[in-house]
Amino acid sequence: MDTLEIIALRAETNKTEILKGINLKIRSGEIHAIMGKNGSGKSTLCNVVMGHPKYKITEGKIKLNGKKIEKLPANKRANLGLFLAFQNPTEIQGVTLNNFLRLAKNTNAKAQNKKAKHISPSEFLQTISQSMDLLEMDKKLAGRSVNEGFSGGEKKRAEIMQMAVLKPRIALLDEIDSGLDIDALKTVAKAIKRLHKQTKCGILLITHYQRILNYITPDFVHIISNGKIIKSGDKKLAQKLEKHGYEKFVKEPA
Ligand SMILES: Nc1ncnc2c1ncn2[C@@H]1O[C@H](COP(=O)(O)OP(=O)(O)O)[C@@H](O)[C@H]1O
Ligand SMILES: [Mg+2]
Repeated sequence: MDTLEIIALRAETNKTEILKGINLKIRSGEIHAIMGKNGSGKSTLCNVVMGHPKYKITEGKIKLNGKKIEKLPANKRANLGLFLAFQNPTEIQGVTLNNFLRLAKNTNAKAQNKKAKHISPSEFLQTISQSMDLLEMDKKLAGRSVNEGFSGGEKKRAEIMQMAVLKPRIALLDEIDSGLDIDALKTVAKAIKRLHKQTKCGILLITHYQRILNYITPDFVHIISNGKIIKSGDKKLAQKLEKHGYEKFVKEPA
């Protein structure tokens, strides 16, 4: 059982406070959805939890299995089993997706177990082939530079490929549904569900829209506004939100 705890977390960037006291606990097997308007702090929360150096934690703690991680660099957090799928994945010129994934997997496996066997390129191609089929990805993408010239949907699929390869304990998925058409959304959702079932990881699913939650049923739904979680509930909360809009829930101080 793995647990990510976010405790009274406040964080700023460029001297502007963005997270204003976030409390959240995610355990293995649980799916938490966070919903909120643009600019409410969703991506900031993901970035801060993952350790993006652009953000400064001013108060609070982040713990993974009881161990404080808020001072660790992002790669160490990844080695402990934390994973972030970016809202806007970066293009990495000159590094093929295949090599990128294999290096990430070998580094991660070695950090978790010194005796872990190095995976060779040919072995690795076989390993990812299944995940690529599940995501209905063109195999040619594996030989191209990471995200370079990928369509929106291909970038999102490549993020989930990383999740499939790394098998994190806790996965933060930042708007994995944005930019996907309805068929691609179903495919990506199916792959996430499969991974969740296989690995029993905890998932924090960030989204604007209720639609993805029709495919991936959350155990908990939280509404974030102005850097704070203002309401938590079960999947019915997402349905209410879809029906009534955010304004009903958001009472921001003047
Ligand atoms: N590097 C930054 N510098 C200044 N403001 C930022 C920076 N990053 C994010 N913000 C601000 O923080 C707020 C929350 O942004 P973000 O976390 O991206 O929201 P969301 O993902 O919910 O749309 C926004 O008002 C945004 O402009
Ligand atoms: Mg965002």
